[in-house]
Amino acid sequence: MPARKTVARLSQPHLLGIEPLRVEDIELILATARAYQTRVADERRPVPRSDLLAGKTLVLAFFEASTRTRISFEIAAQRLGMDVVDLATEASSVQKGESLLDTVKTLSAMRPDALVVRHRGSGVPHFLARHTDVPILNAGDGAHEHPTQALLDALTILDHKGSLSGLRVAILGDILHSRVARSNIHLLSKFGARVVLGGPPPLVPKEFERLAPGLTVCHRLEDALAGADVVMMLRVQLERQREPLFASPAEYARHYCLTPARLAQAKPDAIVMHPGPFLRGIDISGEVADSPRSVIPHQVENGVAVRMALLELLTGAPA
Ligand code: CP
Repeated sequence: MPARKTVARLSQPHLLGIEPLRVEDIELILATARAYQTRVADERRPVPRSDLLAGKTLVLAFFEASTRTRISFEIAAQRLGMDVVDLATEASSVQKGESLLDTVKTLSAMRPDALVVRHRGSGVPHFLARHTDVPILNAGDGAHEHPTQALLDALTILDHKGSLSGLRVAILGDILHSRVARSNIHLLSKFGARVVLGGPPPLVPKEFERLAPGLTVCHRLEDALAGADVVMMLRVQLERQREPLFASPAEYARHYCLTPARLAQAKPDAIVMHPGPFLRGIDISGEVADSPRSVIPHQVENGVAVRMALLELLTGAPA
């Protein structure tokens, strides 16, 4: 891939969430990501490599576990020629009691070109962005937002459905604890999709209908699935429940696991998505996860493309 020396920029210096992004910013990110895709629907493409960001440095600071987001940011940076440094929080001076803010000020003093942060505290990337001029990319903050996940989900839906406007998107499972759900709700609503939230009442409170215009809540999975173009399953986040919100994982699965029989309520050409990691037999059956209707591997591939686009747009030389 030939190196491009100038790039467009986002209207904002950081990627903190989908809610504050303009529609034009999202369109620019998705258009930029298309040049980096290794698959569009079923069509495979060569892996893109460039020296567009050679000489620049990306720091990863993950204070929570991650496989997909952390590794795909690292691969994205390497495909653009960046150097990558992983803070390895469990071996850092955070363990000696250094505050998060002092850690980020210390990292900023080393002049990296961007900092990717995942933290269990909602709003942590926003707080840090007020204290550094290094671009911050939010890789997931508590139950608040996971903007790169929603962007890669949008790219994947567009690959399969062509448009977001008017689509019926069922987001199902543990909405209460899900930053993925919040970011997707904001993005899909900005582009005119009709979002239905489904799951047990403790995990999908009726008040969530106020999160965005046109949003509806259903507590029977079959009702939420009816006529869906896109089915987005979410993991039950047992680690974020202060007290058990249902009798047992098996009891949850009996009513809310996506099985072939339940999926039959959706449109015949509906795609099945999951941000991962997924719990086989609890939030999605192995039969559905491994079926041709599942676009989960495609989501993962698009994650690299979207993160390459964001690194280009936030750290590349301005046009
Ligand atoms: N979807 C997602 O954020 O996965 P990881 O926790 O593995 O990064």
